[in-house]
Amino acid sequence: MATQKTAVITGATSGLGEAAALSLAKEGYRVLVVGRDAERGADVVRRARAAGGEAEFLAADLFSLADVKRLGNEIAARAPRLDLLVNNAGGSFGERALTKDGFERTFALNVAAPYALVEALIEPLAAAKGRVVNIVTGVPSGARATLDELVGAKSKGGMGSYIRAKLALLTLTRSWQKRLGARGVTFVALHPGIIPGTRFGSHTPAWLRSIMEGIARLFRLASSVDVAAGRYLRVATGPVEGGGFYYEGTLRAPPKQADDEAFASDLRAALTRA
Ligand SMILES: NC(=O)c1ccc[n+]([C@@H]2O[C@H](COP(=O)([O-])OP(=O)(O)OC[C@H]3O[C@@H](n4cnc5c(N)ncnc54)[C@H](OP(=O)(O)O)[C@@H]3O)[C@@H](O)[C@H]2O)c1
Repeated sequence: MATQKTAVITGATSGLGEAAALSLAKEGYRVLVVGRDAERGADVVRRARAAGGEAEFLAADLFSLADVKRLGNEIAARAPRLDLLVNNAGGSFGERALTKDGFERTFALNVAAPYALVEALIEPLAAAKGRVVNIVTGVPSGARATLDELVGAKSKGGMGSYIRAKLALLTLTRSWQKRLGARGVTFVALHPGIIPGTRFGSHTPAWLRSIMEGIARLFRLASSVDVAAGRYLRVATGPVEGGGFYYEGTLRAPPKQADDEAFASDLRAALTRA
């Protein structure tokens, strides 16, 4: 009998993470549901079990690096062989605010937390020759970011900051692949598409959100949560190219800066210091 595979999904208590957790449970995975709302976590676990999978909720506040490191230890204890880690939790914030680790929230959630979690789980991932799917966004090919904008005096909230943070995560994805690909771990980045109806952008005023969602629907730029969950499943379990940037599920050349070794190395240094 084949051994059951284990997947971890962060931010699986709502939106795309929740839908992806339920799809993986249906596929027979044991799913470790990571989130900060225990009630919603318990509900996802109940539905994952009802769908025929095995699931467990692990609480963590990904704004706190101490909590991410504790979470990493808890996962490693439960899954010495980890087949899949989906760094899904992410978001954009209107106002600039720093976490207690000194990072702007956008960078803390979209970059620092995935970085610390991957670093804590390298051995379990290598043991299973596992895969890491980092959820990014439709980072434009000419996107650029400086370290000062990400972690320095120029860091701020807002959509520009969100895109720069996702560019940083894409850069780490490619850098991890170069460093750890030889150990059998595969790293990919996925832009799920524009998906109205999740809690994403809840910091944006409701009227502006509904205009943006209306435009996305009108120009047929939007996809449904179910379509996005299908993209997660394909990129998480199907054949992929190591280090690949999957734009709405299709392989695309990443922005040039994602392959800038000096930028990747500065980024790692800033993250390692934290
Ligand atoms: N929806 C889109 O159009 C779209 C487009 C491109 C990329 N994405 C990306 O897709 C991913 C999922 O987004 P979504 O649309 O499903 O948004 P969502 O509904 O807001 O889901 C985000 C998840 O992250 C969790 N989270 C946020 N802050 C956290 C923290 N400090 N600690 C622990 N968990 C935390 C949330 O938990 P709570 O429920 O407790 O807040 C939630 O479960 C994100 O990375 C996003 O950037 C989304």
